[in-house]
Amino acid sequence: MPPSKSIHAAASAPDIRTAGIRTREVSLQRLLIAFIATGLFFLLLPGTFLGVWNLLAISGGHSATDVSPAWIQAHGHAQIFGWIGSFIIGIGFFSLSKMSGIQPFVLARGWMCWALWTCGVLLRWTTNIYGWHWRAMLPVSAVIEIGAFLIFFLSVGRKKRKQMESAKLKGQAYKREIWMKLALASSIGFLLTLVASLGATFYVALSSDTSALPHLLDERLLVLTLWGFITLAIWGFSSKWLPVFVGLRKPDDRMLLMALACVEAGVIAEAAGAARLSGVLLLIGAVGAVFGLNIFTSSERPPKTKGIHSSFPAFVRIAYGWMLFAAAATIWALVSDHAGGIWGASRHALTVGFISTMVFAIGQRVLPAFSGMRTLFSPGVMFASLLTLNIGCFVRVASEIAAYEDNVASAWSALPVSAILEMTGVTLFALNLLLTLLSRPPHEARLKEFQATTVVE
Ligand code: HEM
Repeated sequence: MPPSKSIHAAASAPDIRTAGIRTREVSLQRLLIAFIATGLFFLLLPGTFLGVWNLLAISGGHSATDVSPAWIQAHGHAQIFGWIGSFIIGIGFFSLSKMSGIQPFVLARGWMCWALWTCGVLLRWTTNIYGWHWRAMLPVSAVIEIGAFLIFFLSVGRKKRKQMESAKLKGQAYKREIWMKLALASSIGFLLTLVASLGATFYVALSSDTSALPHLLDERLLVLTLWGFITLAIWGFSSKWLPVFVGLRKPDDRMLLMALACVEAGVIAEAAGAARLSGVLLLIGAVGAVFGLNIFTSSERPPKTKGIHSSFPAFVRIAYGWMLFAAAATIWALVSDHAGGIWGASRHALTVGFISTMVFAIGQRVLPAFSGMRTLFSPGVMFASLLTLNIGCFVRVASEIAAYEDNVASAWSALPVSAILEMTGVTLFALNLLLTLLSRPPHEARLKEFQATTVVE
C-alpha cells in the first residue's frame, strides 16, 4: 500500500522544530514528576509512617530509648534524602535543562540519576529496618547515592563552566547572584553529607555490632545535613523566589554572606567537637538570614498568590520563626538537656517547623507550574496541610520537652496526637500535589492536537 500523506504534510520546518522542543519539554516535565512522585513516596511511607510508628512506641513506653536507633535513622534518612533530596535534585535538573535548552544528554543523565538515587535511598532504608547483610549493604547504598549525586553535580558544574566561559568570551564579568552562591554552598554541603555518610557507614560496618550510627557521630552528621545542606538550599530558594512571590524587599547580599559564613563555621565547629561554639554560630547565622532576606519586614509589593492559598506569605514567615526557635533551642539543649527532649524539640522545629513548612509552601507554589503549567488541585487543601502540620509541630515540640525531660504524664499522651496531626498535614500535602500532577496540563492537550495535525506520512 502506498504511504498515505496527511493533508498537513506541508507543515513548516519551524512548526516541526517547535513540536520537537515541546516534546522534549514534556519529557523534562516527566523527569521532574518522577523525582517529585518518588519524593512523596519516601515522605509518606518510609518517612512519616515510620516516624509515627516510632513516636507511638516512644509514647507507649514513656522513653525515647524504647525504639531502635536504626529505625529512627531509617526514618530520618527517608525524610532528608528520600523526600527533600529527591525534590532538590529533580528541581535542579529541571532548572539546568531549562537553562541549557533541554539537551537530550541532560534527560538521559537525569533518568540515570533518578534510578540510582531511588535504589540507593531505598536500599539504605531497608537495610536499616531489616538488617539484611547490613555490613555490606550500608556502604553499598552510600556508594550508589554518591554515584547518583555525582551525575547531578557534574552536570550542573559543566553548565556553570560553560556560562562563565561564554561570559569571558563576550568580555563580560560573570557575576554569581546571591541565590547562586547559596545554592552552590548547599550543593557542596550535599556532596560532603553523602561523603561523610559513606565514611560513617564504613566505620559502622567495620567496627560496630549494630547497623545504627553511634549517637555522637549521628548528631554531627545531622548538623552538617540539616544546616550545611538543606537550610542553605532553602535560603537560596528564598532569596530567589520570596521577593517575587511574597513581594519582599531585595535580599541584603552582605548579610546573607555573613549568615552563610556563620553556618559553615558552625558546621565545622560541630565536626571539631566544639558544640557550644557551633550552637552560637548557627544562631547568629539564622538571625542574619532572617535580616538578610527581610523576612519580617512588610512586603514592598502585593504577594503573588494566584492559584494558591492567600496564607502563603504568613506560613513562610512562620517557618522562619521555627528556624529561629530551632537554633535557640539548640543552645538551650546544650545547657540543660538531660533526656533528649530539648534536642528532639529543636530538631523537630527545624525539620518539620522550618524545612517541611517551607517545602509545603514553596512546593505547592512552584511545582504545579514547573510540571507543565498545571494549577494546584486545591488551595483549600494547601491551607489545611500547612495548618495541621504547624499545629502538630507545636504540640510535638511542647510535649516532647515536657514528656522526655520532666516525665509529665499528659505530655506523653499528647505525643501521639501531634503525630496524627502531622501525618494528616503530610498526607494532605502529598495528595494535593499528586492530584495536581495527575491532572492533564493545558498544553499537553494542545500538543496532542498539534501532533495529530502535523503527522508527515
Ligand atoms: C509525622 C511526622 C513525624 C513524626 C511523627 C516524626 C517522628 C520522629 C521521631 C519519634 C524521631 C526520634 C527522635 C525523637 O524522639 O525526637 C524523629 C527523628 C528524626 N526526624 Fe522525624 N518525625 C516526623 C517528621 C519528620 C520530617 C518531616 C522530617 C524531615 C523533613 C523528619 C526528620 C527527622 C530526623 C532527621 C530525625 C533524626 C534521625 C536520626 O537520629 O538520625 N521527621 N522523628
